[in-house]
Amino acid sequence: MDFLKELGIEKENYGACIGGEEWIKSPDSKKIDSINPATGEVIASVYQATEADYEKVLVASEDAFKDWKKVPAPVRGQLVREMADALREKKDALGSLVSLEMGKIKQEGDGEVQEMIDIADFAVGQSRMLYGKTMHSERNDHRMYEQWHPLGPIGVISAFNFPAAVWAWNAFLAAICGDITIWKPSSSVPLCGVAVQNICNRVLKEHGYQGIFNTVIGRGSVVGERMLHDKRVPLVSFTGSTKMGRHVSEVVAERFGKTILELGGNNAIIVDETADMDMVIPAIAFGAVGTAGQRCTSTRRIIVQESRYDELVKRLVSAYQQVQIGDPLADGTLMGPLVNESAVSDFQNAIIRVIEAGGEILYGGDVLEGNYVQPTIASAENHWDIVQEETFAPILYIIKYKTLDEAIAFHNDVPQGLSSAMFTLNVQNAETFLSSVGSDCGIANINIGTSGAEIGGAFGGEKETGGGRESGSDSWKQYMRRQTNTINWGKELPLAQGIKFDLSS
Ligand code: UN1
Repeated sequence: MDFLKELGIEKENYGACIGGEEWIKSPDSKKIDSINPATGEVIASVYQATEADYEKVLVASEDAFKDWKKVPAPVRGQLVREMADALREKKDALGSLVSLEMGKIKQEGDGEVQEMIDIADFAVGQSRMLYGKTMHSERNDHRMYEQWHPLGPIGVISAFNFPAAVWAWNAFLAAICGDITIWKPSSSVPLCGVAVQNICNRVLKEHGYQGIFNTVIGRGSVVGERMLHDKRVPLVSFTGSTKMGRHVSEVVAERFGKTILELGGNNAIIVDETADMDMVIPAIAFGAVGTAGQRCTSTRRIIVQESRYDELVKRLVSAYQQVQIGDPLADGTLMGPLVNESAVSDFQNAIIRVIEAGGEILYGGDVLEGNYVQPTIASAENHWDIVQEETFAPILYIIKYKTLDEAIAFHNDVPQGLSSAMFTLNVQNAETFLSSVGSDCGIANINIGTSGAEIGGAFGGEKETGGGRESGSDSWKQYMRRQTNTINWGKELPLAQGIKFDLSS
């Protein structure tokens, strides 16, 4: 596979790197294998970062921060522009690696790299727009304003399902904000971490920078925990399960650090009596089958008006019959494998539980071979325990409703609050769904599915999804600290609130 060579992936790789330098070769680190989820074969291996490696990276990050925070933001933007160019050049190779190591299809692997390029372009523009407000002071001859300063070395802990793009959302905004990034990729997809860091290293070296983007690939219990407890890391951006996110939140909050949490979703599409089925079916298929149901934005529940139920199920089943399952890198494949065996057993357990609860499997339900499963459709009721949980697999629950109020109640009655959608041609239904009595999610769409958000909007969700917002809009503010400045340019010292504190009387 030529793309591995192109990305600098060796048979054995190292897990800790200070950006722009060589990978740290630790004698006592343990190796992890990167397994191809489609075949079970070892692609290559990585020596994990040790605590000592982590320490070296942290010290270098603090050093790098001292200089980087002084570089003008638009100049910092130029480095990110170079990253965008380098990623354009490597899009095909990196997209292939994402597909090989994570198991998403090549189209989606390439799409992930495009998402990195998009956020890089966005960040370049943002580097000239780190705006602060000016306020009118209540006192004579006073000026008041706020400005934004860099935060420091920030931690990014990313999940297996977006092994590269989620790092980019954080790292590129952090970089233009004057921060340093220390990345801990998921141990299921370490090679994507190595490849992206190799791209960073080349760009950093070419432009005479060091230590802006750094990586520590290692055990959560070693480098992850150290990062969470580390007072030198003022912000940790975490993507992963709600259970783990709760732990991250508690540990970091205890030391008054900040977090950006992007946790589980349980995303639904409401299909009303007016919905255009020609749009509904492909939207559901992409949302539920795409990435084999392993996006946090994957569509997990369909809440359909009872008059459209039969038509929807019939057309959906016939669409699912056409889904080509197989090698994620092969042309024409629409669904690859699940990431590993434990994901397959989660799939199996969910199927058992939905049947036990009284659901009917309308399509699929079986494991094919290895990590391959059938995309599955099941009838269900919203309150069932299994429907309330996020199972990271291509299982879609179909729930009937009678009235719009009931649909919205079902929609919101889950612990998670990431993404949501309604298919309708009725403007009143659409606006109700988007209003304060509608969807309670961070993302709410009309006539668009739940997954595949653009980077320009703030990405994230409410409730057990964790409340974080990443990528577009004003997410950049989280990577900076706000300072309010008041300047008295007069010759008196008036106090705010009209207080007199007269020493002479
Ligand atoms: C994720 O699943 O963790 O909206 C991120 C989407 C992608 C990002 C998903 N742009 O589906």
